[in-house]
Amino acid sequence: MDVKLAKRVSLIKPSPTLSITAKAKAMKAEGVDVVGFGAGEPDFDTPDNIKEAAIEAIKEGFTKYTAVPGIDELKDAIIEKCEKEQGLRYDRSEVIVSCGAKHTLYNIAMALFDEGDEVVIPAPYWVTYPDQAVLAGAKPVFIYTKEENEFKVQPEELEEVINEKTKAVVLNYPSNPTGATYTKEELEKLAEVILKKNPNVWIISDEVYEKIIYDGRKHVSIAAVDPEVKERTLLVNAVSKTYSMTGWRIGWVCGNKEIVAAMSKLQSQSTSNPTSIAQKAAVEALRGPQDKVLEMVKAFEERRNYIVNRLNSIPGVKCFKPHGAFYVFPNFSGVYGKSYNGKIINNSMDFAAYLLEECKVAIVPGVAFGDDNCARLSYATSMENIKKGLDRIEEAIRNLK
Ligand SMILES: Cc1ncc(COP(=O)(O)O)c(C=O)c1O
Repeated sequence: MDVKLAKRVSLIKPSPTLSITAKAKAMKAEGVDVVGFGAGEPDFDTPDNIKEAAIEAIKEGFTKYTAVPGIDELKDAIIEKCEKEQGLRYDRSEVIVSCGAKHTLYNIAMALFDEGDEVVIPAPYWVTYPDQAVLAGAKPVFIYTKEENEFKVQPEELEEVINEKTKAVVLNYPSNPTGATYTKEELEKLAEVILKKNPNVWIISDEVYEKIIYDGRKHVSIAAVDPEVKERTLLVNAVSKTYSMTGWRIGWVCGNKEIVAAMSKLQSQSTSNPTSIAQKAAVEALRGPQDKVLEMVKAFEERRNYIVNRLNSIPGVKCFKPHGAFYVFPNFSGVYGKSYNGKIINNSMDFAAYLLEECKVAIVPGVAFGDDNCARLSYATSMENIKKGLDRIEEAIRNLK
């Protein structure tokens, strides 16, 4: 049959991070002992109090359509959180809940971007930003951040790319894939440049990893640096990573009410409300005890320390120590040019393929995130797996000619 798909489908590619995880899973299903560093979600279970809230919602018959942009109870819990943690005040009309932060970001792209618009995306980037911009007809403009700056965008780099066509700047901190995060002072400088160069630019601030932060640091939202910056910021967040709730699909944005209303209109003709039961669970996540989050972050911090030290002890590998999220983004370019079985490793794809096929270790090649020198390793997996995987990587690199 000759299927003629819409052109837009050919403009984007399937998420490469999901495809490597799928390949590793398929190998595991065949009985291969693969160590997976591909996970984009915490390996901890959703806390019991949150599960109980969902069970309660089902028992009470809270199983019907809700208001399209989410129930007031959840909007209020989000508003309370923003005020308590960042001193940011929002009205219910400035909040919309969607089916995960990815859906929130999609709605933002559809509500805001047009043909001819430019969207500034610092690289390495989370794979979804460029494709969503392209789907909405906009042009992604990349800033290739430097390893020596811990992959953080510098004010002068922003200054260079912002022009009258720039519709938005996407910031993600702590970052997927690098784990880099910004201090308040750094965010102030970025915001100053953005507003000076083009006061009509929107700042899309993806803060889904805000709670997964180490070394005693405290997450600061760019929206909190100045009231004028808050007006221009769309603050995106979700329960997905913080509460190990990736499957529940609850994310949201706080920001300009006209944009929120437009997103709500789009949502009303696509998914309607996010799942009623998951919304009740998200209320409990935000308002209930937070001790499980702290336990999870403590475990992640121990794993980060271990993985960074081990990677840096391998000749040819360089890894900066990130302050947040659950990823490391080591530079493996020191092994490029070496070979195995007569095959030369020229780039991150070759290296990831070598590790998966020959050494049974799954990592995500950096090229997927816009940096071919590096690869992403998620440490959302047990310490035992991390040790086993690193032993294999160390040996794999030693065996290269
Ligand atoms: C930076 C970033 N933003 C957003 C998301 C999507 O989150 P959600 O599962 O809530 O859609 C992810 C998930 O990997 C992410 O890494």
